[in-house]
Amino acid sequence: MTPQTNEPHHDAAIVHPPEPGDPLWWRTAVTYQIYPRSWADSDGDGLGDLPGITSHLDYLRALGVDAIWLSPFYTSAQRDGGYDVADYRNVDPIFGTLADFDAMAEKAHGLGLRVVIDVVPNHTSNLHAWFRAALAAQAGSRERARYIFRDGRGPDGDEPPNNWRSVFGGPAWQRVDDGQWYLHLFDYHQPDLNWDNDEVRAEFLDVLRFWLDRGVDGFRVDVAHGLVKQAGLPSWQMPPADLRLEGTLPTNASPYWDQNGVHEIYPAWRALLDDYSARTPDHPRVMVAEAWVQPLERMALYLRPDEFHLGFNFDFLECLWRATDLRAVIDHSLRSNDLVGAPTTWVLSNHDVVRHASRLGLPQERPRPNGIGPDDPQPDAVLGLRRARAATTLMLGLPGAAYLYQGEELGLPDATDLPAAVRQDPTFRFTEVSEMGRDGCRVPFPWSREAPSFGFGPSDRSWLPQPTVYGELAEDQQEGVDGSTLELYRTLIRLRAERRLGAGGLAWLDGFGDEVVAYANVDGAGRRTVVVTNLGAEPVPLKGDLGEVIVASGPLLESRTLPADTTVWLAR
Ligand code: NOJ
Repeated sequence: MTPQTNEPHHDAAIVHPPEPGDPLWWRTAVTYQIYPRSWADSDGDGLGDLPGITSHLDYLRALGVDAIWLSPFYTSAQRDGGYDVADYRNVDPIFGTLADFDAMAEKAHGLGLRVVIDVVPNHTSNLHAWFRAALAAQAGSRERARYIFRDGRGPDGDEPPNNWRSVFGGPAWQRVDDGQWYLHLFDYHQPDLNWDNDEVRAEFLDVLRFWLDRGVDGFRVDVAHGLVKQAGLPSWQMPPADLRLEGTLPTNASPYWDQNGVHEIYPAWRALLDDYSARTPDHPRVMVAEAWVQPLERMALYLRPDEFHLGFNFDFLECLWRATDLRAVIDHSLRSNDLVGAPTTWVLSNHDVVRHASRLGLPQERPRPNGIGPDDPQPDAVLGLRRARAATTLMLGLPGAAYLYQGEELGLPDATDLPAAVRQDPTFRFTEVSEMGRDGCRVPFPWSREAPSFGFGPSDRSWLPQPTVYGELAEDQQEGVDGSTLELYRTLIRLRAERRLGAGGLAWLDGFGDEVVAYANVDGAGRRTVVVTNLGAEPVPLKGDLGEVIVASGPLLESRTLPADTTVWLAR
């Protein structure tokens, strides 16, 4: 154990240099993820919609974020919360119309917010015109060639073509009337596209053009690591969980994730975006990869200059609340992204994972669960929120781009008491209830304590029931309240912008002991912001010439002592 001298070593090595000059917006942006079904409902049907979003954009302006990313709002049967797209060029009536989208984007842009939208290229909905045509056509047809149809194994072809499993549980193959099977890495309502097919490639470039022409600032690309499957579609045995957890197994060991061929797809997308950016230099466009890829060196391949601008840092999200692990992940992320010149991103919550206010309230000995149910061990809500605030305060001091998920700024926990009857995530069904799935982090947003549906919409309808605590944490309970999580986020985001932390360099500070993460964010002019997080049980005195406290995730103890699970920013 390092002796706890509490005399921080100010000249610790710089692991990441500051950005030269004035970086483009996306390199340092704080982006707020909106899950459209659950943010704001304008018409009282219990489902969020685009006009609802438009009417609440001022709130985001006041929060101080730079951009919004919207999960899918396209025509969809909502078998997977809209990630089953039936028409990539239209808005589902539950969310509104294309005109509503335009009005939303116009208002956002008027407020100085960039608009990033989701694109889902790995699979369509089974209701997409292409898939309907494929079902109506014969084996071997041009229509079937856009998807991954195969004959089955066994004498009657009644066994699936290989042993692949769907991410949501159960086999990854579904049989159709004429006996062929089609691949679906997710729900069987989400047939995988065949990215060896030129029509598929051309179609998605056209979809990107459609939205670029409507003025969007960029795309978040769903399952960016899954589009290409290994030739021959070989069967594959997933190794036991503990081997995977130790990170000893690169993602591309499987025949359907992170295949080298995906890197032949994205340069054309990047060229298209670069072309739009070149024509409107004050409007640079961006794409961010959702790629669950390990190790980070493989992830960095997606971030080479002719591919994605950014990629979500899921290693950071999945890191346990342990100082050594966190330090290692941050260090490794910055170093591997620096090799390809891409900013590093930071994220703690999204619509696919247990919210960090709940996740960090669970014992920190195993990876996060996929959802929490009423019969599972329950998170410690007080500890979870305290750590969540500390984690966010640590995150927003880091250089690069950061992603926030709606509601985390209120400190919302997951809803863990959702009854089986209301759960909609396909995971819940296809794993035969062994995994609760993601509904708990998708519960509609509470705007106002006293209003029906806590102000989510004008009626008392809410597509998932809201826990009582959402009333106590509602936006109107925190607005202007000193010490509230909402005001903490506002302060952090404001200081991050004022001190240009996104563009800063990072140097580790030693001397606080093994249970502390401490770094200096240093900008190009040498201005330092020191960030110290105490992940241990014992309070840590903040000795040395660290500067004055400018924000803290919770109250400090007497004489500049940092309590457990607290982060502080200091500056001279
Ligand atoms: C990742 C999305 O974030 C998730 O919500 C979805 O279920 C899968 N991709 C499949 O599209």
